[in-house]
Amino acid sequence: MSPFDPFVHVIDHPLVQHKLTLMRQKTASTTSFRTLLNELAMLMAYEVTRDMPTQEIQIDTPLETMTGRVIDGKKLALVSILRAGTGILDGFLSVVPGARVGHIGLYRDPTTLQAVEYYFKMPKEMEVRDVVVVDPMLATGHSAIAAITRIKATRPKSIKFVCLLTCPEGVKALREAHPDVHIFTAAIDRQLNSHGYILPGLGDAGDRIFGTQ
Ligand code: URA
Repeated sequence: MSPFDPFVHVIDHPLVQHKLTLMRQKTASTTSFRTLLNELAMLMAYEVTRDMPTQEIQIDTPLETMTGRVIDGKKLALVSILRAGTGILDGFLSVVPGARVGHIGLYRDPTTLQAVEYYFKMPKEMEVRDVVVVDPMLATGHSAIAAITRIKATRPKSIKFVCLLTCPEGVKALREAHPDVHIFTAAIDRQLNSHGYILPGLGDAGDRIFGTQ
């Protein structure tokens, strides 16, 4: 993995790093983990949507008429990989409330270890939309790769992938499978362990979001 890969964006803003560090701690409660994830996702959304197209509209201020710029949130489709993606989705929707939302459900087949799809529902007219796929942890990359392959079949204008944490193995796998997809993350941790967990990581993101650990 090149440290200068222009398709890999580590959002190392002090607020992002602060919240991520609090989330990593095993003593963080479910409530604070969820709140921090929501805040972190809003901060990340700011960077991820930086190149969203805007259009000019005429408005009246109390003093004058002027030309302002607005985004068309409906052109954006946020796709959450179930179940942990929901945590990031909520934060993104607070910032871009008009975005359309898709869901993809995948589980890992215990024998083949491949991602198997059990749910897929996308907004209409995907070919006019820029897609942001969200999942807190990019670990082996299997789910992200399978989800993006499936979404590509709907022919969206572009696809970005957003996670909270990843590792060199996950970045390499996703970059090789989908070299056109930009990856946004708050940190690239040291490594994957033999059970597919990121080290030092934050544990099982889904369990920590939903309090099922
Ligand atoms: N999924 C998680 O929730 N945590 C990891 O560390 C890896 C995958």
